[in-house]
Amino acid sequence: MHNDIADILVSEKEIQEICVKLGKQITADYKDKQPIFVGLLKGCVPFMSDLARQVDLKFDMAYMSVSSYHGGIASSGDVKIKMDLDISVKDRDVLIVEDIVDTANTIVTIIDLLKHRGAKSVKMATLLDKPAGRLREYQPEYVGRVIPKEFVVGYGLDYDEYYRNLPYVGILKPEVYAKKS
Ligand code: IMP
Repeated sequence: MHNDIADILVSEKEIQEICVKLGKQITADYKDKQPIFVGLLKGCVPFMSDLARQVDLKFDMAYMSVSSYHGGIASSGDVKIKMDLDISVKDRDVLIVEDIVDTANTIVTIIDLLKHRGAKSVKMATLLDKPAGRLREYQPEYVGRVIPKEFVVGYGLDYDEYYRNLPYVGILKPEVYAKKS
């Protein structure tokens, strides 16, 4: 698996430092609130787990599964809800937890949906931000690292459902996905 990686972009150590830093900011910003952390499956899982343990607050954790990729390396722009929340967001402060923001199609769609359902506030914590990929205007409130417009895998991020278990974020060798297309 490691042989398919051209370069490590965000190391395990850096990821842990990001979680500590964002955890402190979120703890301070949501002091006296009881937010719901909404993780977008499946990519959020490692980040949700590490970030949540750096937040010194009582909060709910819930998950949604949405998809816009369908197995390739470019967003289709068509966001589908595959699994919905099991908790009401009405009058609640929501923090969406994501692995990466690229076009922002996913996050803008989910924010609109949660606001429509009556959420009091909807903010976002993302491990990675790829602003060069934007198709919609959007700036996440909590960003771990801004990265260039590369297709990355690891620490939750997949290519065709693989590589999510890499402990770091890396750039996939182009020949790995060239084989499929
Ligand atoms: P957006 O809707 O284009 O902002 O994309 C958000 C989703 O696309 C993320 O939650 C990821 O699942 C996926 N994604 C975007 N960029 C990458 C990448 O470089 N590697 C793997 N998945 C990605």
